[in-house]
Amino acid sequence: MKRMKTYDVPHKGLRNALSQIQLLAGKTDYSNQHEVEQLYRLGEDVFKILTIHAADENEVTLAELEQRCPRSSHHDVDDHEQIHLVQDKLEKLLTSIYTNSRTGQDVSADGEEFYLAFSEFHGIYLEHTAEEERVTQPLLWKHFTDEELASHRGKIMSKNPPQTLLIWFRFVIPA
Ligand SMILES: [Fe+2]
Repeated sequence: MKRMKTYDVPHKGLRNALSQIQLLAGKTDYSNQHEVEQLYRLGEDVFKILTIHAADENEVTLAELEQRCPRSSHHDVDDHEQIHLVQDKLEKLLTSIYTNSRTGQDVSADGEEFYLAFSEFHGIYLEHTAEEERVTQPLLWKHFTDEELASHRGKIMSKNPPQTLLIWFRFVIPA
């Protein structure tokens, strides 16, 4: 019987979102304020849903799993903490690139650093999501019915305001 896939929808959206930043960070002319602003705006939305997604997993999916199978959520929660640290540095770098670009400074070197650092982050993130699908998903199937998994998704959807859901849809629907 085909089981409900907890991660299918959000992870497809996030992989699309990460790829868009990766492509745009490579194409951006960092001497062009308008192009830098476009990258910054995309980054704002993508980093926002990455943060929300980790919180949703910690507070709903992994919290529920922890109750049924103690200690099984620790690995993913730790991953989220590590990812948050790297993401935080990237967000700060992108903000400073944007702020400096607006004042007419040359941000080419920082732009090159952002592109490289983002590709490292992209690699870590893709590995993390694949592990959730290969390792955590079977655990969820073992401990929950599909109805229960659907109720986790319902909880996540209802804790996110419409504005956040609209950002999600932008990346999920084409994916
Ligand atoms: Fe995760």
